Amino acid sequence: MFALTDVDLDRRILGCGDGPAAFNAAMTRLNKRVVSVDPLYGFGGGEIRQRIDATHDLMVERAREAAERFVWKEIRSPEHMGEIRMRAMGEFLADYEEGKRRGRYLAGSLPRLDLPDGSFELALCSHFLFLYSAEFDAAFHVESIVEMVRVAGEVRIFPLLNMEGQTSCHIAPVMDALRERGLTVTVERVNYEFQRNGNEMMRVQS
Ligand SMILES: C[S@@+](CC[C@H](N)C(=O)[O-])C[C@H]1O[C@@H](n2cnc3c(N)ncnc32)[C@H](O)[C@@H]1O
Repeated sequence: MFALTDVDLDRRILGCGDGPAAFNAAMTRLNKRVVSVDPLYGFGGGEIRQRIDATHDLMVERAREAAERFVWKEIRSPEHMGEIRMRAMGEFLADYEEGKRRGRYLAGSLPRLDLPDGSFELALCSHFLFLYSAEFDAAFHVESIVEMVRVAGEVRIFPLLNMEGQTSCHIAPVMDALRERGLTVTVERVNYEFQRNGNEMMRVQS
């Protein structure tokens, strides 16, 4: 999703909107430094499990209905997607309480990060910005990205599609607004593609 290199993985990484994903747990096992921020972390592990369990069947059903919008390759089917998601959540939950104690899972919401300037070297955001373009306007996106740049210097966002699988209507105005603020913005192709045509990330640098 983010074209991460070995050098990138040695940077101090901030994951924004990481949710119940396994990236933080997996990186911690490799002695990497990842902190995740998400409003979800205001809840306990039991509550998060309940919420994910409760949405499993609906997610699989929705993917089945919109199957043509996805590339079924590494993820072979909607059922396989459901299994992968539940496995990732299991890995996340096994790490969650300990990670929370160590400050690796922080409850918080963009567009504000309660973190000092330059306290990270790379911020990643997958399947939140641009995906929920109907719920969050361009100004929210600009504010969130500027905030992530303040904290981490470089931001990568994936994918650039909305929920319907179309390029987000915010891409062009957000890129213009970020450039007006003197930031460097590029759109780059990446290897990962699950949403059809969702194989690009945005890189924003101070
Ligand atoms: C579809 S999930 C993506 C999870 C993970 N990044 C992934 O790619 O699998 C979207 C996440 O965005 C989080 N979220 C919602 N509002 C947010 C906000 N204002 N700031 C940061 N994260 C938010 C949700 O709690 C949820 O965990």
